[in-house]
Amino acid sequence: MSTFATPAPTEPSRSAEKLLRGRHATRAFRPEAVPEDTMRKIFSLAGTAPSNSNAQPWQVEVVSGAARRRLADALEAAHAAGRTSVDLPYSEEMYAQVHRARRAAFGAELYGALGIGPDDHAARAAYDAESLRFYGAPHAAFLFVHGDGEERLAADVGAYLQTLLLAMTAYGVDSCPQGLLSFYADTVRAELGVTGGKLLVGVSFGYADESAPVNRVRTRRAPVESTTAFHA
Ligand SMILES: Cc1cc2nc3c(=O)[nH]c(=O)nc-3n(C[C@H](O)[C@H](O)[C@H](O)COP(=O)(O)O)c2cc1C
Repeated sequence: MSTFATPAPTEPSRSAEKLLRGRHATRAFRPEAVPEDTMRKIFSLAGTAPSNSNAQPWQVEVVSGAARRRLADALEAAHAAGRTSVDLPYSEEMYAQVHRARRAAFGAELYGALGIGPDDHAARAAYDAESLRFYGAPHAAFLFVHGDGEERLAADVGAYLQTLLLAMTAYGVDSCPQGLLSFYADTVRAELGVTGGKLLVGVSFGYADESAPVNRVRTRRAPVESTTAFHA
């Protein structure tokens, strides 16, 4: 009796493609909370993320209810007082020209959907400040990197981030990763009593307000040839 290997699929399963394409950033949420049981299942599924030697060098802090309100108030106050604190360095200059151009195109699309003009820096800044209230989401998760390897370990936490976002999508939960939240690392730490780790990113999540025009923004991607080379 001979055995034949099952041919590898040449198309993604419909559900996998739906999941990957179904995730997108949401920037206006309804106030309803995600049920606690669903939340536990989502974070448990997110833990399947790969990491170097399975170290799983992440620590995740999730805020809801009164804790979320207190943190939003503290972030607003820190912003008003100009009290920023960044654990992992950030600057516009870290982007190459091609990536800056993509960022600018995205910014024009996002702020355009909000009716904010390209030169209206005050309105853009006000919108960014408002986003510190998690775009109205009832929950936010903060992803901390543990250890001294910084970029190396941040790669692991990046894998966790995408796994988390997809786990949320699978449960019909909408999300927005927010690097801006990591600019207030000391405030987040103080409010949540966190002692170790470096804050990489926050993720606001809940259920989208489908009536908000900003949630109609859909981003495109560079063609595969411009980011990926196939060597044989
Ligand atoms: C690490 C990271 C940081 C981000 N920071 C922010 C942010 O501070 N504010 C925001 O509105 N969106 C933020 N985003 C969302 C991106 O703008 C968004 O993922 C990108 O434009 C692609 O759009 P899509 O997620 O809808 O596919 C962030 C995304 C990632 C992965």
